[in-house]
Amino acid sequence: MRPVVFCSFVVLPAVLIFGTVPLIPSIVSSRHKVAAATSQPAPQMESVEQDMHEFMEYVFQPTYRRLRKNLNDQAAEGPSWKAIRSDALILAESCNLLFLRQPEADADDWIRHAAAARAGGSDMYKAAQSKDFPKTAAAFRSMLNHCNACHRQFEDGRHILKP
Ligand code: HEC
Repeated sequence: MRPVVFCSFVVLPAVLIFGTVPLIPSIVSSRHKVAAATSQPAPQMESVEQDMHEFMEYVFQPTYRRLRKNLNDQAAEGPSWKAIRSDALILAESCNLLFLRQPEADADDWIRHAAAARAGGSDMYKAAQSKDFPKTAAAFRSMLNHCNACHRQFEDGRHILKP
């Protein structure tokens, strides 16, 4: 083998491989040191808007209104499945955020209503996925019954939502 060829095919790769291997532990450990130095308690889930009225008004209300309009318009204009699916999922997932907002009294009932509304939203999302209009509309009504059950108990029957 000629010296130039020997250098580029044998010496150079060997230097690269065996030269960097011993450095790896120090690279890894220095990363860990940095992480340890700046480590803080892991961030927790927390609500951005603590006021329940604002939360319902800006997360649930516009989503519910869009959904209702899209479902009621569909006979005339054809279903906007993407919008319906999106809003059904937003409402279903937003019910999880109600778990962060339990009242002091009757928290168990609150959680049960939130879980039932979440299940209704999830059924609606799945029905919209299969583009089955009667099933989607039925799931919407069923979800609203669960939304309203919480409003009945915790809001003295205010905000009774219509399909
Ligand atoms: C676990 C209880 C609970 C569930 C479940 C719940 N809500 Fe509410 N909702 C409330 C409370 C409490 C209020 C009243 C907030 C206030 O004004 O202080 C409210 C108010 C509202 C309002 C009126 C907002 C306004 O600005 O007047 C709308 C609209 C609403 N909810 C939609 C929904 C929809 C849609 C669902 C179901 C997908 C739902 N809610 C499920 C507790 C709940």
